[in-house]
Amino acid sequence: GLSPTGCPISARAAAFDPFKGDYQVDPGDALRWAREQEPVFYSPELGYWVVTRYEDVKAVFRDNILFSPSIALEKITPAPPEALEILKKYDFNMQRTMVNEDEPQHMERRRLLMDAFLPDKLAKHEPMVRRLTRSYMDRFIDRGHADLVSDIFYEIPLTVALHFLGVPDEGAEELRQFAVAHTLNTWGRPTPEEQLEISENVGRFWKTANDILDRMRADPTGEGWMYDTIRMHNEHPEAVPESYLRSMMMAILAAAHETTSNATSNAFWTLLNDRPAWEDLVANPALIPSAVEECLRVAGSIVAWRRIATDDTEVGGVKIPEGGKLLIVQASANKDRRHWENPDEVDIYRDNAAEHMSFGYGAHQCMGKNIARMEMRVFLEEFTRRLPHMRLVPGQTFRNLPNTSFRGPQSLEVEWSPQDNPERRDP
Ligand code: HEM
Repeated sequence: GLSPTGCPISARAAAFDPFKGDYQVDPGDALRWAREQEPVFYSPELGYWVVTRYEDVKAVFRDNILFSPSIALEKITPAPPEALEILKKYDFNMQRTMVNEDEPQHMERRRLLMDAFLPDKLAKHEPMVRRLTRSYMDRFIDRGHADLVSDIFYEIPLTVALHFLGVPDEGAEELRQFAVAHTLNTWGRPTPEEQLEISENVGRFWKTANDILDRMRADPTGEGWMYDTIRMHNEHPEAVPESYLRSMMMAILAAAHETTSNATSNAFWTLLNDRPAWEDLVANPALIPSAVEECLRVAGSIVAWRRIATDDTEVGGVKIPEGGKLLIVQASANKDRRHWENPDEVDIYRDNAAEHMSFGYGAHQCMGKNIARMEMRVFLEEFTRRLPHMRLVPGQTFRNLPNTSFRGPQSLEVEWSPQDNPERRDP
């Protein structure tokens, strides 16, 4: 076959399927062949140009005019008409938020809403993260085993996100169930039957998020980023319109919750599989912040993001037509030997680990990156201190929801001997 620019499609490019096989096991490793032989290739399965090298991924992120983020949250598998009918029933009307908004609207909005994300504003959340972490650990510390995903890492980032946003507690229970639907709806390859069920859940998610928003708007004096956003909407309705408010309430939950839960599980998976690195953190917790960056490099939770070319152009010497869609694979950039020494090695002493692409880059770079880093650091501090001898239950496989972009294990089984807990031996 031929690509849209008339270039022949290689056998490997034609066989590329990010919804199963290698890419689901480890997207960075799965694209090693492409980084070496065909760094930008057209995937007929996806209808996207796949970008795999560090410099090219960074260049695409950097130019958000030529490479618009408007398709970032588009359904990668189009919905059948019946699924659209279901969404209509819920008045689903997801519009641009921030991550998929073009300039100049995007920057104007980002500036108005940046305040709560600044480091001095974030510091006040850390004691809560630590308190939550300690109390969740108390529930299982004498048990000798846990599934870190369901016992702690799925829950705490959601609680922290809701607190940061100012969403009242009664909203939490309702919102808990919808994350999976959003991931598969946006980045998965659901069958037509699955599309219907997912659409019901997305519709319910939309309705719940909007009901909560309406309650918050009725008394917009509360504290938290959604309240800031409501007040900005009241003051600057052109920059922060109604449609943005409604869409953001749903989008920000996925942005803040699952990304952080997955990144934390990935980090523990990585470090517990590399005992010397784990032992170094136990001995010297000051290394934890750099270990967090290294884990985000080798096992980030957003492994690929999307852009659309607004003009005929070139990426890495390959012609991309106007309207060409790009899958920019951060997990591949993060393993590119052109940028990293020994890219496949987990090295918590690496001095440039923070140059990873896992938070994106440029004008749209993740606004919540320092919240995520803080949560990951606190989790590692508490676990290396209280359960330094914890180990992975052997023989587990990494079960990911099949999709192009969100990556994290569905479970993470660990075990330890409670009689060896430092708090028992040395109370
Ligand atoms: C944007 C990753 C946590 C809020 C993004 C983008 C990525 C990303 C890849 C798009 C960047 C781009 O287009 O250049 C992650 C990862 C996280 C995480 C891996 C956890 C480890 C969070 C949290 C929040 C958050 C905790 C909020 C509390 C946002 C927002 C944007 C964004 C608002 C849009 C920024 C813009 O378009 O200007 N994130 N994120 N993220 N993220 Fe995160």
